[in-house]
Amino acid sequence: MIVVIDFGSQYNQLIARRVRELRVFCRIEPPGISMEALQKLNPEGIILSGGPSSIYEKGSPRMDPAVFDLGIPLLGICYGMQFMVYSLGGKVTRAQKREYGFALLNVKKGTGLFSDIPSKIQCWMSHGDSIESLPPGFELTASTENAPIAAAAKAEKRLYGLQFHPEVHHTPLGKKILKNFLFDICGCKPTWTMSSFARNMIKEIRGTIGDKKVILGLSGGVDSSVSAVLVQRAVGNNLTCIFVDNGLLRKNEAEDLKKALTEHLHIQIRFINAGRKFLSALRGVSDPEKKRKIIGRVFMEVFEAEAKKIPNAEFLAQGTLYPDVIESVSAFGGPTSVIKSHHNVGGLPRKMKLKLVEPLRYLFKDEVRILGKKLGLADEWIWRQPFPGPGLAIRIIGVITKNRLSILRKVDAILDEEIRGAGLYKKLWQSFAVLLPIKSVGIMGDQRTYENITAIRAVTSKDAMTADWAKLPNALLGAISNRIINEVRGVNRVVYDISSKPPSTIEWE
Ligand code: XMP
Repeated sequence: MIVVIDFGSQYNQLIARRVRELRVFCRIEPPGISMEALQKLNPEGIILSGGPSSIYEKGSPRMDPAVFDLGIPLLGICYGMQFMVYSLGGKVTRAQKREYGFALLNVKKGTGLFSDIPSKIQCWMSHGDSIESLPPGFELTASTENAPIAAAAKAEKRLYGLQFHPEVHHTPLGKKILKNFLFDICGCKPTWTMSSFARNMIKEIRGTIGDKKVILGLSGGVDSSVSAVLVQRAVGNNLTCIFVDNGLLRKNEAEDLKKALTEHLHIQIRFINAGRKFLSALRGVSDPEKKRKIIGRVFMEVFEAEAKKIPNAEFLAQGTLYPDVIESVSAFGGPTSVIKSHHNVGGLPRKMKLKLVEPLRYLFKDEVRILGKKLGLADEWIWRQPFPGPGLAIRIIGVITKNRLSILRKVDAILDEEIRGAGLYKKLWQSFAVLLPIKSVGIMGDQRTYENITAIRAVTSKDAMTADWAKLPNALLGAISNRIINEVRGVNRVVYDISSKPPSTIEWE
């Protein structure tokens, strides 16, 4: 295993990704981690990430310099290298000018990190401060025009530093450099695959839960589904999944879940039909935040009541992913980091004294998809677009009624069919319909109509933090509009949302 110390770089997750792509397991830890805790993890190597700070800034992230004496191979990248140089007695100077962008790296020593690397390669620089002199025993291994000390090493202590970023694609041979570090210097073996992860995790879950009972809240999303499969493989029928139908789901949602998990994978699921409870709590409410709060509260009540029916339940399994875990660990914090709980059932473990099991807490989303496939989940289930917990309630602007839900479900189903038919479903982050609270005049046959308007929203995105409205082909938009107006009674106008995030959000409420 490799440990990446997070000095605040936007690239630290990328470093972890690259290491895992090379089939070595990797964890991100804060700089405040104690040497004891670090040694306990027994890593084969340590990578100090870059970071936005200057080593001379007050409050810039530091870690115990004893890390350089552990005898564990270490690679410092950018700020990580500066921290190492500074801690071991070299000199880092404040930037005269920032170096940002491509640079030509002159490799002076083709060993260690640069083994089998040509003498001139392209690299990506992004740093302010630079290194003026090296600590005793360090040797210069590469330079660029603006950074005479672009890489250095103290090979006998297996300490290495790079001023540039090997983890980005702009350093084309970066992966080979990381490979040299992992396999030649640290002696790692490329054995970490999703199958090995699944095997180990199933063993670990079995060890933790033993023959106790565990509950899992299924949302129908990929994360909770994959968690369910893993936990079920570990403890069989000691797992009970609870699926709360809040009456705000899309057409066929519960049936599809049944098919994907119960029929194909034999997972025990309790389906709770709580639609009436949710709808009556939402009656007359149009404020978006109120809607969300009510849905959250009723969900907790329903889930808790159901969970209590499972005797001796001691654990709650959740599909928390690694980015959530990293985000909630303060970058400069110590070992007592606060872990964010999943939005849906966050308050439950404390209230019900359940212990949390989070089998996906070290995985990224695309790794979860690969794992899901390995565990036998169907492709179409793995590639489902995200669907918000509050469901159609935040896509019906204004008050929610049975009739409005029924209209939106029909519209949404048509949109889904058309988007899939056009082969665009996987390419879009999300595509959905919104029912507006205003009516407009239309004409159908010879009759004047005064009916609802629906908006279509389709966006592309990498992580939902930002999103672009999708440039759907005109012919497809035309077909969607035609079908909706012809097939769904109560709708006489379709509009397309052409706003990006920011400044808009993906959902309308
Ligand atoms: P916004 O609308 O903030 O949405 O741009 C970003 C992403 O988050 C999803 N979303 C939610 N997911 N519970 C969820 O599980 C929620 O309350 C919720 N609100 C928004 C949204 O669909 C998009 O993918």
